[in-house]
Amino acid sequence: MNQSTHVNRQITLAARPNGAPMPNDFKLLESPVPTPANGEMLLRTLYLSLDPYMRGRMSDAKSYAEPVGIGEVMVGGSICRVEVSNHGDFEQGDLVVAFGGWQDYSVSDGVGVIKLDKTMQNPSYGLGVLGMPGLTAYMGLLDIGEPQVGETLVVAAATGAVGSLVGQIAKLKGCRVVGIAGGQEKCDYAVNELGFDACIDHRSANLDEQLAQACPDGIDIYYENVGGKVFDAVLPLLNTKARVPLCGLISQYNATELPVGPDRIGLLMGNMLVKRIKMQGFIVFDDYGHRYKEFQDAMVPWLISGQIKYKEDKVTGLEQAITAFIGLLQGKNFGKLIVRVGPEQLDFGAKS
Ligand SMILES: NC(=O)c1ccc[n+]([C@@H]2O[C@H](COP(=O)([O-])OP(=O)(O)OC[C@H]3O[C@@H](n4cnc5c(N)ncnc54)[C@H](OP(=O)(O)O)[C@@H]3O)[C@@H](O)[C@H]2O)c1
Repeated sequence: MNQSTHVNRQITLAARPNGAPMPNDFKLLESPVPTPANGEMLLRTLYLSLDPYMRGRMSDAKSYAEPVGIGEVMVGGSICRVEVSNHGDFEQGDLVVAFGGWQDYSVSDGVGVIKLDKTMQNPSYGLGVLGMPGLTAYMGLLDIGEPQVGETLVVAAATGAVGSLVGQIAKLKGCRVVGIAGGQEKCDYAVNELGFDACIDHRSANLDEQLAQACPDGIDIYYENVGGKVFDAVLPLLNTKARVPLCGLISQYNATELPVGPDRIGLLMGNMLVKRIKMQGFIVFDDYGHRYKEFQDAMVPWLISGQIKYKEDKVTGLEQAITAFIGLLQGKNFGKLIVRVGPEQLDFGAKS
């Protein structure tokens, strides 16, 4: 369904999921397009980012951020066009990165909103390679992973928004890079397009054996995106002084209880002690938001020169966000998942 100028479609949280989110945990509502007050602006969503952290916001378990309330619009980063501005720093037609959520229109007071160059060829890149996932890959790898020439790095969700960039940046830093991904097509892409040295399908029966073969000198950096059985395969291969940037645990996000025994904490702690492993979690904007410019200065030239490749998985239509998000948690996306909500042509200033 196309965007209207007078109806605001909104996807709200209808119920907190128990396990994997289901379509009826969401509700598509329609309301009038809101009117911005003084100091505010009306934003029209062109692109919506779908990201794994949104699963956490659907739950009311204690976390680093407040959950979405039942009946509230699902949160999310977006690329928007300013339709009406009563704000001194923005004008109609500006293209911005905002946190507009799963809806056609939102009102903003400008806090946290970043202007984009109106002539930018791929504005949706501001939600991926040049945005939150890019910053996450860059900072987690370089600040916590501290890659050195000749070291072996392993990253899972290897063709996704974060993993694909982690592996490519590690290659630029001189590492041997081994990806782990879901399926042969993704693995082929990681090796043939992204330039990884090897990539292993985490669904294969002998993941442990294949990973050991692909990492003959052990693992110096494991960039953790998924947890679960992938981490179990990685742990015995970690080298002395290995670093583990703890970025995400997507294999656990739909879990309703802790995995059944045996208790492996002793094994993990024993390995960390004897091998002096550094494992450090981080939350990108809390820990590294202030270093965005440093990241951008490095990433833009890499992207322009083709040293970094980037793949988007774009779906069209706000109403597709529900199915696409459920699929993200099952590995159905291939590249950074983006919903095109607004018109294809960025007809600045026009009111289509
Ligand atoms: N700490 C932070 O501040 C921060 C910021 C951004 C992202 N993250 C985390 O980074 C990780 C990657 O995020 P992303 O945005 O780049 O997502 P993504 O990789 O584009 O998409 C998620 C991917 O995770 C993999 N996956 C899903 N379920 C899995 C399972 N049960 N076991 C193994 N793999 C599974 C799938 O890839 P395959 O088909 O290849 O398995 C899926 O395509 C997530 O854990 C996310 O929460 C953390």
